[in-house]
Amino acid sequence: MGLLTGEALMPVAVAVAVFLLLVDLMHRRTRWAARYPPGPVPVPVLGNLLQLDFQAMPYSLGRLRRRFGDVFSLQMAWTPVVVLNGLQAVREALVLRGEDTSDRPPMSVYQHLGFGPRAQGVITAPYGHAWREQRRFSVSTLRNFGVGKKSLEQWVTEEAACLCAAFAAQAGRPFSPDVLLNKAVGNVIASLTHGRRFEYDDPVFLKLLLVEAARTEETSSLRQVLNAFPVLLRIPGLASKVLSGPKEFMVLIHEMVAEHRETRDAAQPPRDLTDAFLDEVEKAKGNPESSFTEENLLLVVADLFFAGLVTTSTTLVWALLLMLLHPDVQRRVQEEIDEVIGQVRPPEMEDQARMPFTTAVVHEVQRFGDVVPLGVPHMTSRDTEVQGFLIPKGTTLIINLSSLLKDEAVWEQPFRFHPEHFLDAQGRFVKPEAFMPFSAGRRLCLGEPLARMELFLFFTCLLQRFSFSVPAGQPQPSDHGVYGLLVSPPPYQLCAVPR
Ligand code: HEM
Ligand SMILES: *[C@@H]1O[C@H](CO)[C@@H](O)[C@H](O)[C@H]1NC(C)=O
Repeated sequence: MGLLTGEALMPVAVAVAVFLLLVDLMHRRTRWAARYPPGPVPVPVLGNLLQLDFQAMPYSLGRLRRRFGDVFSLQMAWTPVVVLNGLQAVREALVLRGEDTSDRPPMSVYQHLGFGPRAQGVITAPYGHAWREQRRFSVSTLRNFGVGKKSLEQWVTEEAACLCAAFAAQAGRPFSPDVLLNKAVGNVIASLTHGRRFEYDDPVFLKLLLVEAARTEETSSLRQVLNAFPVLLRIPGLASKVLSGPKEFMVLIHEMVAEHRETRDAAQPPRDLTDAFLDEVEKAKGNPESSFTEENLLLVVADLFFAGLVTTSTTLVWALLLMLLHPDVQRRVQEEIDEVIGQVRPPEMEDQARMPFTTAVVHEVQRFGDVVPLGVPHMTSRDTEVQGFLIPKGTTLIINLSSLLKDEAVWEQPFRFHPEHFLDAQGRFVKPEAFMPFSAGRRLCLGEPLARMELFLFFTCLLQRFSFSVPAGQPQPSDHGVYGLLVSPPPYQLCAVPR
């Protein structure tokens, strides 16, 4: 103790400071490379952390874009970050240079949840063998799901009927639709992973969703900061503080897997993704390279819930809000439904081709809602070049999807809800290239086909059965998004009146 007082303290402090500055210089060397993207000047150690407003990340970064251009750099403590805006830069980085830009920063909260060389899940897996194996598995399971059994479309259609029944049970009284929409979407993932749906009041299901919601919807600034700067998760104690929810979630998934193992009939085809995965684990016994391990099954299932649940349900919450605010659009969708599907038969994916207006509305909901504005961070796996700038290996890339969805050069009315963005002069559906809510390239959202199916079937099914309106006496809700982990609509209530 006595050592660190008075005169002894000074040299120690100087030595520590010099050491920190040297380490800091090493970390910031990359910035001195020729043609490194411009950006605000970082201070030692903290980089640009103090220059950013964490309560309003998208805004404070927007200022930087105006100052430095479409491709600019930031220093998040010791992590070099490059932000990409606009179709040209994003397309060049993700598609043309996909081989260099498809890694993930080693950020994952999962590192604290049993993440290891053979258990990396999908979303945050580094660009390599384990990711490729699991991505291929998820994509093909989604595609082939239900061979000889119920197809994924049948699951979604049945769930849509349950969702409508739950809306009808509100008997025209005002309610917030988010909880029911979340349950319906949750059941679609459960059908994929658990091979079953849950009643909306099933206690196990409620716990599953609650834990999942705690994980995704926590909008405290602490969580936002950690999300932006996962480096901070290394601070002792902080990780366990934000991770208690995910741990509980893993316990539930673990129980589900144990039950599958007991009830698996090897003579039958797999009932769901979990069975298919356990078959692969069996096949991979003795292969030290394989990522088909039971620990990884837990992470893959958790990833599917994490990536597929709140994204899709938040988009549907946007869809109904926008129908409240645009009764004319709602009416036109209903007219198209009546004409093409009628009032009796449930909607099918095949109907979509004959419903350009409804298809345009669903796309415009995604464009306007812009639920994942900054996508999921990428990282360069080797030195690369984008728009003439050199980006060294190990740089975190933030892809501003919002800059595409709200691009003033592409969209007639970028900041208004305007389904005509997706219709040509003849009323046919068209999709501008800047429509990239699922990102692009090798890391493109692998759930896109499922998400498209859910958005179309849930939306048309609800509008076929109900008309939606702002409850009498309540003010018009606003259509300004609320920034959290995702961008969600402000809380609102609606009345669902049977047609
Ligand atoms: C409207 C709904 C959805 C939106 C807007 C959305 C958006 C995204 C975005 C922006 C990414 C990041 C892509 C990148 O890194 O460049 C992503 C990745 C991913 N999504 Fe989705 N998603 C949705 C629904 C789903 C669904 C339903 C599932 C699966 C059930 C899913 C599974 C995944 C997975 C596994 C990844 C990681 C892919 C990888 O790293 O290789 N998503 N999604
Ligand atoms: C992303 O683009 C949007 C729309 O152009 C802009 O408002 C926002 O500030 C941008 N964010 C970043 C991080 O550049």
